[in-house]
Amino acid sequence: MSEYYRNQAASKKYLDALLTLATPTVHDVVLDVGTGSGTVCFFLGERINRIYGIDPNRDLIVKRRKEAQELIDKREVLPHFNVTFLELAAEDVKEQFKQSYFDTVVCWGYVHHFRDLDKAMESIRHVCKPEGKLIVFDAFFPEPIRDFWELASTIHDPSTVRHHTYFEYMEMLRKNSFMPKLIYPFRHSMDLDKWLDTIKGEDEVVANDIRSRLPGKYDAWLEQAQQKGLRQTLREEILNLDEEKKVFITLRDLGSNRYEFTYDTFVLLATRNE
Ligand SMILES: C[S@@+](CC[C@H](N)C(=O)[O-])C[C@H]1O[C@@H](n2cnc3c(N)ncnc32)[C@H](O)[C@@H]1O
Repeated sequence: MSEYYRNQAASKKYLDALLTLATPTVHDVVLDVGTGSGTVCFFLGERINRIYGIDPNRDLIVKRRKEAQELIDKREVLPHFNVTFLELAAEDVKEQFKQSYFDTVVCWGYVHHFRDLDKAMESIRHVCKPEGKLIVFDAFFPEPIRDFWELASTIHDPSTVRHHTYFEYMEMLRKNSFMPKLIYPFRHSMDLDKWLDTIKGEDEVVANDIRSRLPGKYDAWLEQAQQKGLRQTLREEILNLDEEKKVFITLRDLGSNRYEFTYDTFVLLATRNE
């Protein structure tokens, strides 16, 4: 679990914002949509009545259950560590839980992975109780850099679907009866080469994964980029962005062929209308 605690330290500012905005109580029942590494479940598990971490990736769910059990067995958590991990997609929570079941729904780094945005949001709205909270942690990409960064993120993680601008988030929330209340903005900085190094898998595996998830969308780019290598092509394209786009990711030359970029992240609170 030490790796888990190290990861938490890196995201402390976001988790602090989660605590402030979600103001969890021991009576709350919470849904963590796209639980992935389970950050939100492990963080809130001792503070609330129950938290359900859902993810359609069975392997992740099996790992999270094992980790949770280890924590309980080693008595590293308080007896009221009420975490349940379920293999389930956001789009299907409506079928699994009663209407208005949750006090709070959290989408932690997940909205840009929504495959069926409308169905997922409608499902979340259905299970969140009136005046209940929706907490979203994600990134905003301004219009001029959005499409390029969507491609870059997809190479980095093929399950990326769509990055949204600030106004699209507001529209998405209002359309689904959520009233945006507070946003904590942050900047996230990354070392370009360290970020490229975290791309998992050989080029062919990454490319095939993207082709199967998003047929046609990046086929031409992938075919070209595979000649030089996905990472190298992406690196050059980032360094050769026009000045306006560079400003939006505050690309900085650190010397010795090292570069840093940043992007806008946020933690947001919205409440469900009656
Ligand atoms: C970037 S991760 C989210 C990070 C995660 N909340 C954490 O704290 O580690 C995106 C997660 O969404 C999951 N996912 C993909 N499609 C999904 C869906 N339709 N419904 C719910 N989760 C989904 C993926 O399996 C992945 O674990």
